[in-house]
Amino acid sequence: MIETAQLNLWQEAVEKAKRVTVLTGAGISAESGIPTFRGKEGYWTVGSKEYHPQEMATHSMFLRQPLEVWKWYCYRRSVCSNVDPNPGHMALVELEKKLGDQFCLITQNVDGLHLRAGNTTARTFQIHGNIQFMRCSAECTTELYPVPDFIPVTPVRREFPTELLRKLRCPKCDSPARPHVLWFDEVYDEKFYRFESSLQIAAETDLLLVVGTSGATTLPNHIVRLVVQKGGMVFDINLDANPFGELAVSYGGVALIGPSGELLPELISALQN
Ligand code: OAD
Repeated sequence: MIETAQLNLWQEAVEKAKRVTVLTGAGISAESGIPTFRGKEGYWTVGSKEYHPQEMATHSMFLRQPLEVWKWYCYRRSVCSNVDPNPGHMALVELEKKLGDQFCLITQNVDGLHLRAGNTTARTFQIHGNIQFMRCSAECTTELYPVPDFIPVTPVRREFPTELLRKLRCPKCDSPARPHVLWFDEVYDEKFYRFESSLQIAAETDLLLVVGTSGATTLPNHIVRLVVQKGGMVFDINLDANPFGELAVSYGGVALIGPSGELLPELISALQN
């Protein structure tokens, strides 16, 4: 339950704001059943060695073991394809409908659940990519291609048919295709990850709603700090106390502790009254 004073502050802040931005992380998809990035489920065994996501999700691993990296992503993609958006995602669709062009959603999640829930591609910046897409590894084009239908979406861990993975190639130049995700040894850019646009939006944001992120990556940190530097207010939703919640409170905002699938619908329904 959100306190009345906090709900009042939220309502006032939304009414006054010219731009409301939402920044989401893995926590919002946890209630849909997607394991967090650093959990045990993310590990991957190749031969006798167990790799961490921070090793698998790298360009250097893709150069060394492209088929293993694709197997890992096909498995992760199948997990995402077999779950549904939860009430937290749906609440953000309502918020976009209410605010229109004042609204922007910046997500670190590659699961595509915000778009499946109904947020628009125009106002959703997927700053770490989307696992349902691939692109040319040689960058002959910046075009994104849906991962083809011949890749199964039933969760299979090891037994992935390699002959199918070999067919994942750029439709234009026939170079190997790669998953459309930002890897740990790569940097943000505008063309694939909306880097400059995200900072621009942050600089214009009066009210930032941060949901389910530990703030482990650089761009989300820049975004939150830019908003408070420019005098914007931050609301943070997280199961646990975290640095963004502390920052929110120290700049006059609010840290709400609890599941986003419950707190977000509560915040959004307060706006309908
Ligand atoms: P993390 O897995 O680091 O953090 C998830 C956050 O969600 C934690 O702070 C949890 O307390 C919180 N949480 C979990 N369940 C929740 C719930 N039901 N309601 C509210 N909060 C909940 O995920 P991210 O912060 O998204 O980047 O991680 C950011 C990035 O780390 C990922 O996108 C990935 C990785 O490096 C790249 O791959 C580039």
